[in-house]
Amino acid sequence: MTEPTIDVLFDEEAISARVRILAKAIAESDLKDPLLVPVLTGSFVFAADLIRDLHREAFPVEVDFIRLRSYGTGTESQGSVKVLCDMDQDVTGRDVLLVDDILDTGLTLAFARDLLLERGARRVCLAVLLDKVERRTHDIEADFVGFECPNRFVIGYGIDKAFAYRELPYVGAFAES
Ligand code: IMP
Ligand code: MG
Repeated sequence: MTEPTIDVLFDEEAISARVRILAKAIAESDLKDPLLVPVLTGSFVFAADLIRDLHREAFPVEVDFIRLRSYGTGTESQGSVKVLCDMDQDVTGRDVLLVDDILDTGLTLAFARDLLLERGARRVCLAVLLDKVERRTHDIEADFVGFECPNRFVIGYGIDKAFAYRELPYVGAFAES
């Protein structure tokens, strides 16, 4: 079987430069003593780079994880989200920065934001590597966005297709034949 051709959308250098800029913006924001919460699994590479750039900006964060799975329906906007693995930290009264790979319809991050607000977080901000703006069906926007992403299925830099391709150091999309 021949390997699929992958178009590189955001290469290593572009991602690295952009993540550094996001870290600067987060460090200069009014987030106070934030708990950074990567939404697993797709965000793990982005989050790993982001927290080290935050350190370079002398901006300490605590990190805890939540693992979510969204089940889309025909219309996607009516899908449901399940907590597969919950956080350990209490978010009461805290500033939380949710970190995810892709803001797509917004179902997953709207669920996560509402869950943490219900649990008593003081505020919940969002940092996403990729924003598929035209796909949005939920009322949610990210506070920190790496790149606006075309409406294509992307892989790499932690983002998978059936658990594969997460190891690619760039974000790519399968070439349309
Ligand atoms: P949403 O709930 O529709 O916003 O979907 C967000 C999640 O769907 C992302 O965090 C990804 O895990 C997944 N997702 C959305 N688009 C893609 C893609 O192009 N490739 C791989 N996963 C995707
Ligand atoms: Mg995800």
